[in-house]
Amino acid sequence: MRLTRASRALPSVFLLSAASAQSTSTDAPAATVTPSGPSQPASIDNYNWYGCQTEATGTRALNSYTYADDGMTLESCRDFCNAQGTTFFGTEYGRECYCGNKFQSGSVSAPASDCNQLCAGDSLQYCGAGNRLSVYALNGTDIVSVTSATPTPVPTTFPTGWTAQGCWQDGPNGRIVPTYNAPDNDNLTPQSCAQLCDSLNYTVSGTEYYKQCFCSNAIYNGGVKGTDDTKCNTPCSGDSSVNCGGAGYITIYSKGTPQTYQPPVVQTSGLNGTWTYQGCYNDNINNTRSLPWQLFFPGTMTATVCLHQCAQFGYAAAGLEYGEECYCGDPGDLTNAGSTKQLESDCNIVCAGNASAICGGGSRLSTYFWTGSTPLYVFHYPQGTNAGTYSNLVGGVVTPLMTMQSITGKVTFLEKWGTGAANSTGAYELDLSQTSNFTRAWRTMHLKTDVFCSAGLILPDKAGRQLTIGGWSLDSTYGVRLYTPDGSDGVKGVNDWQENVSVLKLQRGRWYPSAMVMTNGSILVVGGEIGSNDKAEPTLEILPTVGPYLYMDWLARTDPNNLYPFLAVLPGGGIFVGYWNEARILNEVTFETTKVLPNMPGSVINPLSGRTYPLEGASVLLPQIAPYTDPLGVLMCGGSTEGGGEALDNCVSIYPEAATPRGH
Ligand SMILES: *[C@@H]1O[C@H](CO)[C@@H](O)[C@H](O)[C@H]1NC(C)=O
Ligand SMILES: *[C@@H]1O[C@H](CO)[C@@H](O)[C@H](O)[C@H]1NC(C)=O
Ligand SMILES: *[C@@H]1O[C@H](CO)[C@@H](O)[C@H](O)[C@H]1NC(C)=O
Ligand SMILES: *[C@@H]1O[C@H](CO)[C@@H](O)[C@H](O)[C@H]1NC(C)=O
Ligand SMILES: *[C@@H]1O[C@H](CO)[C@@H](O)[C@H](O)[C@H]1NC(C)=O
Ligand SMILES: *[C@@H]1O[C@H](CO)[C@@H](O)[C@H](O)[C@H]1NC(C)=O
Ligand SMILES: *[C@@H]1O[C@H](CO)[C@@H](O)[C@H](O)[C@H]1NC(C)=O
Ligand SMILES: *[C@@H]1O[C@H](CO)[C@@H](O)[C@H](O)[C@H]1NC(C)=O
Ligand SMILES: *[C@@H]1O[C@H](CO)[C@@H](O)[C@H](O)[C@H]1NC(C)=O
Repeated sequence: MRLTRASRALPSVFLLSAASAQSTSTDAPAATVTPSGPSQPASIDNYNWYGCQTEATGTRALNSYTYADDGMTLESCRDFCNAQGTTFFGTEYGRECYCGNKFQSGSVSAPASDCNQLCAGDSLQYCGAGNRLSVYALNGTDIVSVTSATPTPVPTTFPTGWTAQGCWQDGPNGRIVPTYNAPDNDNLTPQSCAQLCDSLNYTVSGTEYYKQCFCSNAIYNGGVKGTDDTKCNTPCSGDSSVNCGGAGYITIYSKGTPQTYQPPVVQTSGLNGTWTYQGCYNDNINNTRSLPWQLFFPGTMTATVCLHQCAQFGYAAAGLEYGEECYCGDPGDLTNAGSTKQLESDCNIVCAGNASAICGGGSRLSTYFWTGSTPLYVFHYPQGTNAGTYSNLVGGVVTPLMTMQSITGKVTFLEKWGTGAANSTGAYELDLSQTSNFTRAWRTMHLKTDVFCSAGLILPDKAGRQLTIGGWSLDSTYGVRLYTPDGSDGVKGVNDWQENVSVLKLQRGRWYPSAMVMTNGSILVVGGEIGSNDKAEPTLEILPTVGPYLYMDWLARTDPNNLYPFLAVLPGGGIFVGYWNEARILNEVTFETTKVLPNMPGSVINPLSGRTYPLEGASVLLPQIAPYTDPLGVLMCGGSTEGGGEALDNCVSIYPEAATPRGH
């Protein structure tokens, strides 16, 4: 026997009135006749027949105490309720007993003939029926009158394509049709529940315990179809000729055959052999994320999805939260945030992409660390003399935008001119042999236009001339500046930067262009904008000037994220261009694209991250090894998420001429 203390708030209170007492007793059978067949006795001990009642709306008509039992009789229910001291006891559906001091709202009087189900423990008594209580009242108690039941029409058909799936045990690992729980319905039928679920776009409906209706798109929590359909034995509140589940059993109808899922457990194996579950950790301590990088995988989140993403970007700690959130970071981040292991049961939300797995909880992270024998990254910190030393060579004159090692052994410094410090000429040269004497170390040179936002390189000629092109604004953006290094150790040169925009200039003004020496010695100039944060200049041109400048749609499309693109001559002759998160190979003669390379991975949280403007990264060619037949690699490090949001802490590389180039 089960004793349940009713815990629901009483929705409303009936007025008790002496005047109306007994006014509904006209249906009561005669007390004096000894029944020859089943009957509804006029009294059971100190309780008198009250009437046949319906259930209430949203709760039990008599909701203080209840039990159910296959040996149910009117006497055993009376004993149970009398021991609780309640005014009424009622029996329902043959085997259920309810006690209470008043009827809950929605419970109304029904014809006595409705209460026509035999008591499970006494076939000569009636014990209510489906949604009908045979009610007895404590002798001498004033009671309220109730009105007759008015039948409401209920749906009689199932939605198209819905079929019966039988009787299933609900629990013990949690509800098996849990997604939507309709309010209790006094007119419930399997059809009305299926119609409701279908209208909400669910594919599985379940009715339970007379009047409960549940909807889902699958059967969860390890639900298994019972072998015994008689467990679904509570008549539907809206049609007592069919059953709507039972106590702890659910009658399922669905559109198609429902998928079933095991009870969710945290995934601790099959994690690609390299991650180890650490436990359920807390998040959002003092409004700080325990692991900094947040991703959402609505509908697809699993441990594999999250861990793979974190590993790809070199993060050795991963946390799954609230079913569909994935966080990446390093194990030390948890410690720094003050995050500690919590109760395992706090992580209790199923994964959006795997109903059999747990993905954290509310502010709780199902936490994993990378424990693979191959670490995700290793930093080498040279020690002792290998670590080298820093020493201050000489005081400086400017903070340079561009430095170039000259063929003479000296170093060129170029700096803003016009927009820089008032006393700056914008160009200086450092004699490394004279660093003990500031005056002898530095030579002052001169610019005529502003190199801020220009490109620079050293020409492959015998003089090792230095070239800068483009720049800050107006004439500066057309600038072509040349310096022929001269002088020697301890001897200052006399050559200066040469430029005269009315004699030699670019075809197009360029702010933030790139420049590269081609294999034939010409200079390729790529892209830029016509001025500071102005319109795109999505073209290429050649220096010394030949032919027209060439329009490039891929530069137009990716402006301004392509500024200062990365350029390199490939061994096969083509020209590599890395810009934003894209890369391609151009034909060295026609500048047509010969191959579009795969996009570069971005940040862990945003694939649309760029390696070029506005937070420019850096690019180098990877070393080649004799006999130099392997494809050449390009390494690009840093950059930012869109619009300079978050700086990238990773590098990507690609072998553009490999058979199937892959950015990683
Ligand atoms: C009910 O109570 C009245 C008096 O209060 C008594 O006469 C009557 O016998 C009682 N009936 C039952 C069934 O206990
Ligand atoms: C159900 O799906 C249909 C078609 O996709 C859509 O129009 C309707 O709004 C959905 N209803 C609900 C309750 O989501
Ligand atoms: C779903 O989770 C279960 C339990 O952790 C696991 O055994 C299964 O491999 C997972 N399936 C997928 C597709 O991730
Ligand atoms: C296993 O992890 C490695 C490294 O992150 C990845 O390359 C590989 O695709 C992963 N395999 C699976 C099945 O997730
Ligand atoms: C959170 O804030 C409280 C109150 O300012 C402070 O005492 C506590 O140390 C903080 N915890 C962490 C982990 O920062
Ligand atoms: C410009 O003036 C500042 C402040 O007097 C001085 O520190 C700096 O060395 C000067 N720069 C040059 C290039 O003369
Ligand atoms: C630095 O060199 C200048 C020019 O040769 C010279 O006049 C000056 O005395 C030197 N200063 C020192 C400290 O040697
Ligand atoms: C630039 O060249 C033109 C034409 O040769 C000349 O007239 C002008 O003086 C030059 N400007 C400078 C600043 O040297
Ligand atoms: C180098 O190649 C480009 C592209 O074909 C061409 O425009 C340019 O004139 C060439 N330069 C030399 C010096 O031949």
